Amino acid sequence: MSNKQTFYITTPIYYPSGNMHIGHTYTTVAADTMTRFKRLTGYDAYFLTGTDEHGQKIEEKAAEAGVTPKAFVDEIVAETKKLWDLMNIRYDDFIRTTDERHERIVQKIFRQFYEQGDIYKSEYEGMYCTPCESFWTPSQLAEKNGEKVCPDCGRPCKPMKEEGYFFRMSKYQDWLIDYIETHPDFIQPAARANEMLNNFLRPGLQDLCVSRTSFKWGVPVDFDEKHVVYVWIDALSNYITALGYGTEDDGLLKKYWPANVHLVGKEIIRFHTIYWPIMLHALGLELPKQVFGHGWLLFGGDKMAKSKGNVQYPQPIVARYGADALRYYLMREMPFGSDGNYTNEAFLTRMNADLANDLGNLVSRTVAMIEKYFGGDVPAWTDAVDPSVDTPLQEHCAALPSLVEAQMDKLQYSQALAEIWKVIGECNKYIDLTQPWVLGKDPEKKDRLANVLLTLAECVRYVAVLIYPFMPTTPERIFAQLGVKDEVLKTWDSLKTFGQLPAGTKVQKGEALFPRIDVKKELEALYLAEEKPAQPEKKADKKPEKKEEKKAEKKHEEPEFPEVIDFGDFCKVKMQVARVLECVKVPKSSKLLQFRLSFGKDGERTILSGIAKYYEPETLVGKQVVAVTNLAPRKIAGIESQGMILSAVDDQDNLRLMSVGEGVEDGAIIG
Ligand code: MSP
Repeated sequence: MSNKQTFYITTPIYYPSGNMHIGHTYTTVAADTMTRFKRLTGYDAYFLTGTDEHGQKIEEKAAEAGVTPKAFVDEIVAETKKLWDLMNIRYDDFIRTTDERHERIVQKIFRQFYEQGDIYKSEYEGMYCTPCESFWTPSQLAEKNGEKVCPDCGRPCKPMKEEGYFFRMSKYQDWLIDYIETHPDFIQPAARANEMLNNFLRPGLQDLCVSRTSFKWGVPVDFDEKHVVYVWIDALSNYITALGYGTEDDGLLKKYWPANVHLVGKEIIRFHTIYWPIMLHALGLELPKQVFGHGWLLFGGDKMAKSKGNVQYPQPIVARYGADALRYYLMREMPFGSDGNYTNEAFLTRMNADLANDLGNLVSRTVAMIEKYFGGDVPAWTDAVDPSVDTPLQEHCAALPSLVEAQMDKLQYSQALAEIWKVIGECNKYIDLTQPWVLGKDPEKKDRLANVLLTLAECVRYVAVLIYPFMPTTPERIFAQLGVKDEVLKTWDSLKTFGQLPAGTKVQKGEALFPRIDVKKELEALYLAEEKPAQPEKKADKKPEKKEEKKAEKKHEEPEFPEVIDFGDFCKVKMQVARVLECVKVPKSSKLLQFRLSFGKDGERTILSGIAKYYEPETLVGKQVVAVTNLAPRKIAGIESQGMILSAVDDQDNLRLMSVGEGVEDGAIIG
């Protein structure tokens, strides 16, 4: 048996109500990166992901699609696994809540709770939110336009009287408060712990209704089959059922539990730091060492919504630039724990700056100079040292593994990469300082040149070893150019002392690691390429439950729009009435319509709008619309769009163009 230290990491199990997008990819890449990092540094790591397949939402979607819930989720799960493969995500297990191994144990857990008195049967009378599958007491409800609505999603609740099983959460409240207070690492980032304590635990926990009778697609309560187990009890259990909890075959549980870290998005931290610890405690199991609630990937500064057309899928990006570039961006762009934007522009700009320029150039210059000045053979160290320039870089590089590890221990992926890129930057500066091309002209300076190039080559080797967890396929391409064949030189241990790259190693220039790209051109190409991956059925990809959870969370933290804006800000936007003169589909785009609009005495303009799926172009000719006319012109799909046509869209993806009613001249100003 190995005596390696173990490390168990999990992602949330995702709802297969539609295909996974870049947000799910973000968490899963983070888990994969950490797993690879832990393995690199000598741990026995275990990585679990999967899908959360029960619940009313899936039942309804399947019915809409005219298939069984299982057939519906099977298809999405197959797509999900393909996506994880594409992203080079190597999980150890993929658990599905419809797996027999899981369902059986969920039933057992539920029964145990009941038998030991943690769960009791009672009657519930209150308000129920169907989309959230949640009961609310009158005092918990929010109010919207005079109506009582769900505090999570803002939709109307209906009165409901139901027989149900309840978990005595209140019994464990004081224990949990004490646990959180005495385990400062348990909830990360730390601010989230205060949120849980102040908003939920200290005010007092309500007993939680943990069964449902209103739908069937769930794990039946085996001693009362009218009921199915509440989705969160079912879902959270996955972290232990996957390890064989409750079975004879529980070697994995013994080996890996408690988990080192559950990675979750911040909107579900509450479930993982309140219900889950209480469940585990009631089962007599240890708590995970940490629950890390990371931030959201926003899209163009906005929360994602399919109806807004701002959900990003990884496939078109990976097809053009490879998984490593996207993985790098996801882990580099924002600190883990904070929100950040995904925009194609930011991605492409970073690719150019960090990957093509900084890393790519360093590798190609180093290899090219060894070819040019030493016939491709890595030279041996000489005594022509210049401590004032060599030592700082060599020492910095030698310290790099521990700098990276310190950040990774805090799950600060972005900072870990920043540390690596600092050394890359320093190498590039070292080239400017030492001017190898000048040394190369003078045969007397050959010894000095040898040390300069060897220092660079060794730094490149360090970098290649260290970026592996983030970008699993790039290191091999670097090693091929550096001529590193010995597997030992690709290990963490080989980074213990600087200067391991042996003399005589044969370098070989290869293709540019990340060719420089023309951001403008690529933006257009991506725009056209961003067709969504196949969905099991037309509407299956909508995930109102998550959208709404996010909305609820955001309501408290960061409203989508500022509460107020200055009158001056409002006045900056010029909106005018326009008449559609022509409207045609943009060739090769399934989204875009091209409008020729008349603004009366203000002349004509061309405006593009991504509403092709909502309207037949010819039906719009002659209609009046409303457009913003002082937006900076923008080239989309090679055509300059000179403004923006306004429309309204709801959560059901119904879109209508805005209009002002008859009787206003074309060009009239709105305000
Ligand atoms: N099924 C539950 C989780 C149960 S875990 C026991 C669920 N599923 S989900 O499909 O909605 O996935 C939510 C998770 O996906 C988030 O917590 C996060 O890990 C990831 N993300 C989905 N969209 C995201 C962003 N836009 N940004 C970052 N992460 C996102 O909740």
